[in-house]
Amino acid sequence: MSAPSTHLTPEDLLSAATGLLAAEQDPLANMANLSALIFEALPDLNWAGFYLYRPHAAAPASLFTVASGGSSEGEGELVLGPFQGRIACTRIAMGKGVCGTAARTRTTQRIPDVHAFPGHIACDAASASELVIPLVAHGQLLGVLDLDSPRKDRFSPADQQLLETLVAAFLAALPVAA
Ligand code: SME
Repeated sequence: MSAPSTHLTPEDLLSAATGLLAAEQDPLANMANLSALIFEALPDLNWAGFYLYRPHAAAPASLFTVASGGSSEGEGELVLGPFQGRIACTRIAMGKGVCGTAARTRTTQRIPDVHAFPGHIACDAASASELVIPLVAHGQLLGVLDLDSPRKDRFSPADQQLLETLVAAFLAALPVAA
């Protein structure tokens, strides 16, 4: 398919995404192209892309290790994946910022004003609103899809639904281990 030359309707964005996913199985290639598609198809974005969940290796057993419910040690973190936009933070701890909150709670975060979000991580000072959708397949956290806008209140419930549908299509297209 050819790259979109202008903003797309939700229907056309979904159909372009479905076309990409039907043509390629590799999740990395698909995340790269989906970032480019979203960034080009939706107006008023300054960043669109993926953070991938990387579990920490299990900590070695130690006499001095005390289990503490509140600690995020060993919980893993988010690492920057394919994206479009300016250089971004490479690692985000679980529970930190909008992305870490979406990842830990496994719920979409639609934030009208990031400056009012406690702990927001300002990778780009221009960002004013944000939409983060967790990627969860078969109960496993894989990462998040993150969209930033320089416009306050950029993301509507309809945008959230559109991007959640796109994420569901991406997850449904993931290769299944034999
Ligand atoms: N603002 C995000 C960090 C990622 S960047 O926006 C690309 C956050 O608070 O998690």
